Amino acid sequence: MKTRITISTLLLICLSALLIGSESAISFEQHPIPFKTPKGWPKPVYKFKNNKLTEEGFELGKKLFYDGRLSKNGEFSCGSCHQPFAAFAHFDHDLSHGVNDQLSTRNAPAIINVAWMKEMHWDGAINHIEVQPLAPITHPSEMGEQLDSVLQKLKNDTSYVRMFKEAFGSPEINSQRMLRALTQFVASLVSSNSKFDRYKRGETKLTDYELKGYQHFKTHCSSCHKEPLFTDNEFHNNGQKLNRFNDLGRMKVTGNVADSLKFKTPTLRNVQITYPYMHDGHIYSLSQVIEHYTRSIDTLNTALDPALRKKINLSKKEKMELVYFLYTLTDSSLINNPRFAAPRPLTKGHDHR
Ligand code: HEC
Ligand code: HEC
Repeated sequence: MKTRITISTLLLICLSALLIGSESAISFEQHPIPFKTPKGWPKPVYKFKNNKLTEEGFELGKKLFYDGRLSKNGEFSCGSCHQPFAAFAHFDHDLSHGVNDQLSTRNAPAIINVAWMKEMHWDGAINHIEVQPLAPITHPSEMGEQLDSVLQKLKNDTSYVRMFKEAFGSPEINSQRMLRALTQFVASLVSSNSKFDRYKRGETKLTDYELKGYQHFKTHCSSCHKEPLFTDNEFHNNGQKLNRFNDLGRMKVTGNVADSLKFKTPTLRNVQITYPYMHDGHIYSLSQVIEHYTRSIDTLNTALDPALRKKINLSKKEKMELVYFLYTLTDSSLINNPRFAAPRPLTKGHDHR
């Protein structure tokens, strides 16, 4: 009798050890997600081999992206300025605002297809996706926080300790891991399934208006807003005037006068929903953008990009066709994808307007 109890107790101990063992084995096992380059696209600039995409890394990155605690007052997450329904731009905000209601001097761009960018921000001041988050986190009018303080907040939260362990194999929370997890989420925001993409894949047709708009686009716009990313990721002067912040754009980074008022070409993917437009958000609609290109630009301005020195003439109907074409670049499968949406219940700060 006695021995039987001992044996079954032993068995029980062994079994529970096995269970615990397998549980921790599960929590240490990361599930890789292959990064798929859409057909016909160039290879991404970002080297995923040093930061392999995994389900666990992605989930951690997503939690961080929507967590207001990355900011000083707990209210401004990355997602408060980069909102899913605005293709990860800041809906209806010309200049995004951050802690203490301070305005930044620039418009929050749509953060899609960032894995293909060799330089980030309107002036290209950032040259690596993994260090990019440090800029908004520490910027006094964005998240206004210090890295050490963010890391301390994360360390105090047991769910983060668990998620760092799941993503990286041990519970250590440090800046490199945090930045790599954020990168896994940001780099996964790929937009490649708009009506235009489906048309290119032979899955749908464009209307006559849209097709004509596509022709105008190829004639006047695609040298800079280059397919398939709809940006060449280069810097150009497209005729913006110096704004009240004296924002010289690329010249701020290079110090080169020739770079004055050059800004990084933004992607036009999802442009229907990323308004307001341009580096300072001073243009509110696509028809105004087209007015800019066809009427407002001073073609005699020698600083203007050579591609725009010849006046663009479009009739009223042609302008409308061009706008219809731009609408075909809206990718609702990205915007409505629950995988990228803010976790529920909402992390404080995500829905701040
Ligand atoms: C207060 C609003 C705000 C917050 C919060 C914010 N951003 Fe941004 N983001 C911007 C603005 C404005 C820019 C453009 C900055 C510039 O050009 O100087 C930008 C640019 C970017 C870019 C570069 C996009 C491109 O096309 O060059 C990425 C990537 C990005 N943000 C990711 C993040 C991440 C990750 C976080 C959270 C850690 C974050 N942002 C938090 C406003 C914000
Ligand atoms: C010489 C290169 C060049 C050409 C050609 C060009 N663009 Fe642009 N485009 C840019 C640059 C650079 C910006 C950003 C300027 C800024 O922010 O001040 C821009 C910004 C835009 C924006 C604002 C997007 C946003 O997210 O803020 C739209 C829309 C746009 N262009 C549409 C067009 C259309 C339509 C045409 C053709 C009629 C065109 N572009 C031709 C370089 C170009």
